[in-house]
Amino acid sequence: MTENTISQHGQWSSRFAFILAATGSAVGLGNIWKFPYIVGENGGGAFVLIYLFCVIGVGIPIMMAEIMLGRRGRHSPINTMERLTAEAKADPNWHYLGWMGVIAGFLILAYYSVIAGWSLAYIIKAFFGDFINQDAIQIAQLYEQFIASPIQQIFWHTIFMAFTMNIVGRGVNAGLEQSARFLIPALFSLMFLLVAYAMTTGSYFQGLHFLFSVDFSKLSSDAFLIALGQAFFSLGLGMGSIMIYGAYLPKNISIARTSVIIAGADTLVALLAGIVIFPIVFENGLAPSEGPGLIFKILPIAFGQMTGGWLIGVFFFILLFFAALTSAVALIEPAVAWLIEHQQISRKTACIWAGLAAWLLGIGVALSFNIWSTFKLFDKNLFGLLDYLTSNLMLPIGGFCIAIFAGWIMNSEHSRSELALAKPEFYLLWKQLVCYIAPVAVFCVFLHVVGVI
Ligand code: TRP
Repeated sequence: MTENTISQHGQWSSRFAFILAATGSAVGLGNIWKFPYIVGENGGGAFVLIYLFCVIGVGIPIMMAEIMLGRRGRHSPINTMERLTAEAKADPNWHYLGWMGVIAGFLILAYYSVIAGWSLAYIIKAFFGDFINQDAIQIAQLYEQFIASPIQQIFWHTIFMAFTMNIVGRGVNAGLEQSARFLIPALFSLMFLLVAYAMTTGSYFQGLHFLFSVDFSKLSSDAFLIALGQAFFSLGLGMGSIMIYGAYLPKNISIARTSVIIAGADTLVALLAGIVIFPIVFENGLAPSEGPGLIFKILPIAFGQMTGGWLIGVFFFILLFFAALTSAVALIEPAVAWLIEHQQISRKTACIWAGLAAWLLGIGVALSFNIWSTFKLFDKNLFGLLDYLTSNLMLPIGGFCIAIFAGWIMNSEHSRSELALAKPEFYLLWKQLVCYIAPVAVFCVFLHVVGVI
């Protein structure tokens, strides 16, 4: 079906461009903000080991499946699923999978943009020396005051959204690819710089020990499920981000090899974030199990007290901003591509509509931290609700369906030729993983989320 066709939206100019852009999608707040705090909450090394198993055993096979579906369909996730469903003569309801992805990306972006806006605000705070010589209580106050201000929340969210839509509006090559070409190498450089700093702290080895020494007695019963959920979010699977990136992938590029590289880079950044953060946490006598506030409430204390902390603080929040930006563009690209295909409008117009809608919903999220914090549904404010709905329900359901579609519904000849693996055994292994292991694992996560196990 797709021989010699190119997506109407364009295609990556090289294998390297695809790897950078897809790494940009994967590496984000999930790696730098979330990974360290959940490792902290789950006792360290043993959890990291389980996380690695989840990435290799479930994450990579599903990533291959999702990229493969995208490349074969060559359209936005909605139209891709429609085409693949027709090709496989499957139940037409499968195309709702594409819809769920586009909607999930849009919902994630609405809150992602608010949190990413915090990184922008914290660059400015760090730059103006707001953390210098502040104690834990003052830093916590700074954070509380910041999130309590509707104007500031909306302002930074708006700025972040403007950055995002400006990149998406430029298109596949001049926008997504070009920004990743600059931002990803910058992100890795900043990361290594921060690791070098972490090495100079007296607690560097204590940090490493926490991250890498495996002690299974510290594991909680649901560590596996938490690790798998995190692998999904961090690799950016289950909603069509990587599917649309696959739609722009030239035919001759190996899906397996690039998936391994992308997952490897994503995992490396998560581990490096841990290597940077835990020594700083221990150095300052703080607790690794602080929870979601870890980087905004804890790190500034350290930045304000350490020598050179001013600059390290500025760098750290710039790093967080870069990481969030290249993920945000991946979250909205499926919706933008669909609008272009369906409404036959220009990319710029599609960006304005999709961006405006996500921005409006994001305003609700920004206000859910302050004046709307008392509006709750199922005991969650709007931020909590969107996070729960997407990360815990839509992504696992999406990942499960992608594995089932690629493994059971799609014609094996098609998946075999699309993946073009070097050895027949590799194809068989992949097939086992997407047909059995991945769906069962994801199903367990899902049952856990809804409270059955
Ligand atoms: N992976 C990104 C992060 O770690 C976020 C992200 C981008 C994402 N695309 C996604 C999450 C698709 C889930 C699904 O922050």
